[in-house]
Amino acid sequence: MSSSTGTDGRGATAARGDDRTPVLEGRKLSKSYGHVRAMVDADFELMPGEVLAVIGDNGAGKSTLVKALSGAVTPDSGELLLDGEPVSFHSPIEARAQGIETVYQDLAVAPALDIASNLYLGREVRRSGPLGSLLRMVDARAMREEAQHQLDSLGVRIPDVRQPVESLSGGQRQSVAVARAAAFGTKLVIMDEPTAALGVRESGMVLDLIRRISARGLPVVLISHNMPHVFDIADRIHIHRLGKRIAVVSPQTHTMSDAVAIMTGAVEPDEVGGRSHYDERAHRRETGKA
Ligand SMILES: Nc1ncnc2c1ncn2[C@@H]1O[C@H](COP(=O)(O)OP(=O)(O)O)[C@@H](O)[C@H]1O
Ligand SMILES: [Mg+2]
Repeated sequence: MSSSTGTDGRGATAARGDDRTPVLEGRKLSKSYGHVRAMVDADFELMPGEVLAVIGDNGAGKSTLVKALSGAVTPDSGELLLDGEPVSFHSPIEARAQGIETVYQDLAVAPALDIASNLYLGREVRRSGPLGSLLRMVDARAMREEAQHQLDSLGVRIPDVRQPVESLSGGQRQSVAVARAAAFGTKLVIMDEPTAALGVRESGMVLDLIRRISARGLPVVLISHNMPHVFDIADRIHIHRLGKRIAVVSPQTHTMSDAVAIMTGAVEPDEVGGRSHYDERAHRRETGKA
């Protein structure tokens, strides 16, 4: 940060948390499993308030990247910066303590527990830190009220938070997992294929939830295979291929077929772009072509 004293007279520390400093940044992250190079000098940038989609073929290394960002994997090399400050995580607990929450694709909730307990799962014992005010509420009633409030404020319609999670549909369960992440993620929320196990209508619920979280100003990283979902919701799209980021595009500049072509290696990133996903949709509507 030595060169960041700008002409606006603000010092280096004032650059922290401004609109141009990534909330989370990865520089040249690498990780090998034996001889498999799952991540090779991968860069990553999440800007304040955005929904950033991460796309890539199976085995491209998306999950490994996300695990490095969320503390589940410690990279062999590379740097991680949170609000411009170097950080390193040796477990998901350490990342969570810094405000990074992750939702995994496998509906990661405790089915037999009720919804309120699921929202506070793993939080009961922590006493210090920014969440102290919430965590002081140890009585079940206050926890239920707060859980109901969280769900209501995110538009998740669940009649009674005393219901066990196993009585919920897949979409409702995933909504609980996402609401939990939104409640505790003070810096960002990461979702690895959150709609992979869901039907069309239920995926819609989760996408709406992502929109509401993002409207609160919390940036979201969304890993997804589903191009319509990605183009529906993302501000920017990070394209991952063979263990690294090869391009960042947006629905304003690239079509779905552009993104897929880059992702699969059919074209070089600079060979496509200039016509937006929205232009193409309008064109299809006008010409009636599918
Ligand atoms: N724990 C692991 N042990 C060995 N190989 C792994 C492990 N996790 C991922 N890999 C390998 O790393 C590569 C990237 O995997 P992954 O990050 O899961 O990709 P994606 O999420 O894009 O499908 C793949 O070749 C995968 O088999
Ligand atoms: Mg994966």
